[in-house]
Amino acid sequence: MEKNIPEFTVLPKHIGVIMDGNGRWAKQRNLPRYKGHIEGAKTFRKIGEFAAELGIKCMTFYAFSTENWKRPQEEVDAIMQLFREYLNEAEERKEENREKGICLRFIGDRRGIPEDILALMEHIENESRYETKIILNLAINYGGRHEITQGVKKIAQRVLDGELSPEDINEDTLSDSLYTSGIPDPDLIIRPSGEYRLSNFLTWQSAYSEFWFSDVLWPDFTEDDLCKALQDFEKRNRRFGGI
Ligand code: FPP
Repeated sequence: MEKNIPEFTVLPKHIGVIMDGNGRWAKQRNLPRYKGHIEGAKTFRKIGEFAAELGIKCMTFYAFSTENWKRPQEEVDAIMQLFREYLNEAEERKEENREKGICLRFIGDRRGIPEDILALMEHIENESRYETKIILNLAINYGGRHEITQGVKKIAQRVLDGELSPEDINEDTLSDSLYTSGIPDPDLIIRPSGEYRLSNFLTWQSAYSEFWFSDVLWPDFTEDDLCKALQDFEKRNRRFGGI
């Protein structure tokens, strides 16, 4: 049967998602926290594929922050294992992903990520790089302030090397030095689980983003929840500092 794909008068070009509430989802069910992350990873797959069907061109999912290394080793290992499984699955399903037009990319500091995961990330990125229906960005070992600091260091080096003069530095110079270079800023940032923070996610890029919050925990987040966020987004009056 044909699936009914809802239509919207305006769609965000880029949506950021903070996948929060996995731990609480597990706790509510007396399960270990990693079970919540397993369900959260399933929701990520479901929502990413649905977004492609809706015609959204880019989504960035916050999967692991530069601060998340502070969690118990057992939990960090479980999340890393989920990345491994997802990347292996993406390799197995590469034909299916190609048909769906999914380009997979990763943002974050690649130093510190286990080498086998890094190799898989690079392989998948390379294989899916020509797909154009949707870019799915996974933020792994990502921190917005860290990203800006790294970007500023790159710019400083270009100045030292005589490639760039300080007077020529503008906002685009910084945008281009970030992991998201070439990708439009997120129009919409979604945070489920009843928290109202940005948590160091897309710090520079979110300057004019619309925010959408919900009490639903990420593993329970559905296609309908994404549609609700999009319906609200349609009604927002974005002025970008104008009147
Ligand atoms: C925040 O919820 C979630 C994380 C720090 C990890 C997110 C990871 C995943 C969804 C799995 C990633 C894997 C793939 C393949 C994308 P929390 O644990 O802080 O929840 P809590 O606030 O309820 O404790």
